[in-house]
Amino acid sequence: MDHGIELAYIGLEIPDPSTLDVLFGEVVGLVAGTPTPRGASTWRDDDKAQRIIVEAGDANDARYLGFEVAADGFDAAVERVRAAGFEIAEGSAAEATERRVERLARTTSPWGVQVELVAGLEEVEPFASPTMPGGFLTEGVGFGHTVFATTNFDEADRFVTEALGMGQSDWLDMEIMEGVELHVRFYHCNPRHHSVALARPPFDLPQVLHHIMVETRELDDVGAAFDRARASGLAIANNLGRHDNDAMFSFYVVSPAGFQVEVGHGARLITPAWDDNRAYDRMSRWGHEPIPAP
Ligand SMILES: [Fe+2]
Repeated sequence: MDHGIELAYIGLEIPDPSTLDVLFGEVVGLVAGTPTPRGASTWRDDDKAQRIIVEAGDANDARYLGFEVAADGFDAAVERVRAAGFEIAEGSAAEATERRVERLARTTSPWGVQVELVAGLEEVEPFASPTMPGGFLTEGVGFGHTVFATTNFDEADRFVTEALGMGQSDWLDMEIMEGVELHVRFYHCNPRHHSVALARPPFDLPQVLHHIMVETRELDDVGAAFDRARASGLAIANNLGRHDNDAMFSFYVVSPAGFQVEVGHGARLITPAWDDNRAYDRMSRWGHEPIPAP
């Protein structure tokens, strides 16, 4: 099922953006892009100008999430948001320049992150990373996936499905400790198994952003990134493992800002006649156990 939109970028606001340089640049193997006109740091995982934007500020969380829409579907995508009952406004020329897009419209998601529909995300020189020789899988599937935790879960679910038109891939119900249930729903808008997932925590967490995932083209690049993560001294939230629902082989490293980055490979794709929207009761087939910091 292809809804014609892709995850374009995520914007973070961190007190000191340079604290993410080692993780993004040296561990994950992203490439630094040109800073934005307002001075935000940018990171690339393919030929696009910017995929992760890091601004200096107190939020210590995700502030905005961009979805790229084909230019001829832009007005319909904006109207779909409005028809679902959410306010959406066309961005200014300065905002479009800051995001390096041709068009931009913005609304606020029920989990508090600004969602931006954009067209014409700028391309720059071909992606080449010395630490990620195989590059990242983004063509037709967006830059990766993002997972948010929100107690405003039902409205967030309605926003993702009705306003953004995403399809539910499947969901996870598991007991993470005695009496504490974790509920996560996974949503697709192109062949990537999920571009967004929403978790329902028992109470509000300090960050709504749980993790950002980038998918390598080569399996060995996950292992090499895992070695670099271990050597960096950053905490590994989850060891190497394979998820049950999307079958992603991955690990999770904890960023200095608290949210996590999942580096993965080999997730299964959504097919045109997806009929596997069902419950899972475990996160992983094997692995993914927490590892204490070295
Ligand atoms: Fe993930």
